[in-house]
Amino acid sequence: ATAIAAGLVGYDSARAGGVFTFGGTGTNLYAVKLGLEKACPQAMRKGLREDVVILSSDVSHYCRYNIAGWLGVGTDNLVTVPSGPDNAIDIAALAQACRDVLSQGRKIACLVATMGSTDAFGVDDLEDIVALRDHLVQEFRLPYRPHVHADAVIGWAWSVFNEYDIEANPLGFRRRTLRALAGASRRLRHLGLADSVGIDFHKTGFAPYISSLFLVRDRADLALLHRQPEEMPYLYQFGHYKPGMWTLETSRGGAGVLAALANLKLLGREGWQAALGHMVEMTQLLREHLEGHESTTVLNRDNFGTVTLFRVYPPGVDTFEIKRQEFEDPAFREQLLRHNDYVRRVHDYVHAEALAGRGVMLSLTECYRHTAHGEPIVALKSFILSPFVDEEHVEAVVRKVLEARQHIQAPG
Ligand SMILES: Cc1ncc(COP(=O)(O)O)c(C=O)c1O
Repeated sequence: ATAIAAGLVGYDSARAGGVFTFGGTGTNLYAVKLGLEKACPQAMRKGLREDVVILSSDVSHYCRYNIAGWLGVGTDNLVTVPSGPDNAIDIAALAQACRDVLSQGRKIACLVATMGSTDAFGVDDLEDIVALRDHLVQEFRLPYRPHVHADAVIGWAWSVFNEYDIEANPLGFRRRTLRALAGASRRLRHLGLADSVGIDFHKTGFAPYISSLFLVRDRADLALLHRQPEEMPYLYQFGHYKPGMWTLETSRGGAGVLAALANLKLLGREGWQAALGHMVEMTQLLREHLEGHESTTVLNRDNFGTVTLFRVYPPGVDTFEIKRQEFEDPAFREQLLRHNDYVRRVHDYVHAEALAGRGVMLSLTECYRHTAHGEPIVALKSFILSPFVDEEHVEAVVRKVLEARQHIQAPG
């Protein structure tokens, strides 16, 4: 499974290595630990005695807090870089933050590129991040190369489209779907540039929990985590493959590995293209519907995954203008907060209906992004993760949301 996934993301599978671990969190933890060993040699043995930081965007996953805390980096040493309206890290701000850190004599343990953010499917520009890292090594004459990790636990699956012929479109996707696939692929095709990649089969790999793979481009990196055989004299009396020499976990289950392998073999590249492409198609269809109603507006139009964040408004609101006004204009603060509450009420209704067996499960995010004046934008969230979702289900989502609106409007 490791070799197949390595080839898929653009690594040389003869040189790459990997380990299945306890979730997307585990993949990030491994990455930061490797980065620490590179920046502060022998931290494993001597402990962490230097001032190090981890850099990632403000929409990177919150497991960074756990990782920084548990690895002894300290959450105060997380450098959080703003993301742009496309939910991708602001490269100029990242460059400035790195230069500030290095000028202060601090070290960079890890640059985490989020390749498919949790809420909105923002995808960082990994090519630029790697180029920045290489530049900084020269500029500051660093004796180590800051580790670049691609947190692609959601986005990795788009690698199946790296060689898809968009023009010939052999699977017959709609034009709008092709545009979305190309939009995601444009950045996700560079995963092979990262020093390590996190992959969750339990997210976009159709596998049950937990099936997470931490991949390294160069498996020699894993030697940085090596223990000594004398520490475990009762193990490894035979064979050559001994991942237990460097895994964090002692006992590890095999179910996640087998689930991943089974799906990779069952679906193959084309099967995956068909399943994922269909989910993207249904997502685009949902957006088309939502954009076709006067009361709903899609927030993450520039993100091309299978997650859609949208807002619903009461009658009389100009949904062409309101998004920009709420985002930019402090005069609309009161309206924004009122509409946040309205979105929560729509969610409450849809949720109660779903629990009663009528309709669809939507989730809610309390903060899609902050407005320019610092208020959170509440949004409804549709995350299509099943290839069995079809047009009728998409229509059911829209119907239920509009029904919620009627319900809220109804007197009493
Ligand atoms: C981008 C990203 N990274 C990491 C994680 C953590 O993954 P897990 O819940 O499998 O530990 C998530 C989970 O939602 C995620 O979306």
